[in-house]
Amino acid sequence: MRRTLIAGNWKMNGSFSANRALLTDIIAGLPDGNSIETLVCAPAPYLAQCAEVLGKTPVKWGAQDVSAHIKGAFTGEVSATMLADCQCKYVIVGHSERRAYHAESNELVAQKVVQALSEKLTPVVCVGETLEQREGGATNAIVGAQLQVVLDVLSAEQVSEIVLAYEPVWAIGTGKTATPQMAQDVHAFLRGQLSVKSAEAANTVRILYGGSMKPENAKELLAMADIDGGLIGGAALKAADFLAIISAC
Ligand code: 13P
Repeated sequence: MRRTLIAGNWKMNGSFSANRALLTDIIAGLPDGNSIETLVCAPAPYLAQCAEVLGKTPVKWGAQDVSAHIKGAFTGEVSATMLADCQCKYVIVGHSERRAYHAESNELVAQKVVQALSEKLTPVVCVGETLEQREGGATNAIVGAQLQVVLDVLSAEQVSEIVLAYEPVWAIGTGKTATPQMAQDVHAFLRGQLSVKSAEAANTVRILYGGSMKPENAKELLAMADIDGGLIGGAALKAADFLAIISAC
């Protein structure tokens, strides 16, 4: 049984005061006996604040990116060791915004996954196709290639340690959501690819859906067999919406 994971990706939003209000409302509004794993991925300057505010709560925190390097002369980069020092449990790796605006290749993403795992951080590995690629019938080829480069650098045991996120680029921040069946088809394809590497990983690795997930569509998406949670952008910035998605699980 895979435990549902609802993760907020705050992207480049927030301030000390806004974060405190958002986190306080999320903690206060979590359903009683909540069994859903809940995570917020904050900008790096706010990770210590997350540790302070969330430390004694069930809500976990993580980062949005990690350096592919261990340490040293890499100005502006944040290492996996530093994220672990901020008591992060998770880090998003290979988000489509980093792939598009920072030219992150599949190979660089794979190196980042290795770095995250070396510090016992769970990488949330993002894959997804553009609209052009979908319309050209290349969705499985694109997400398959993105995943394969990561699988190639990991042992079967390490693959069991990751979380995957399918985020169709055309659905991010656009209000357009993949239909539950469209998302399920890609999730099932990704799970099949995991099974070639490790039957165990195919069973246990959680595959999140991301792309305009909101309270109105979360229930239908999360009801699909291979959708194990959500990676949520805009709706994670409003406590009421984030909580409503958790309640929809
Ligand atoms: P939105 O939920 O705003 O579409 O963002 C999705 C996303 O990119 C999460 O990583």
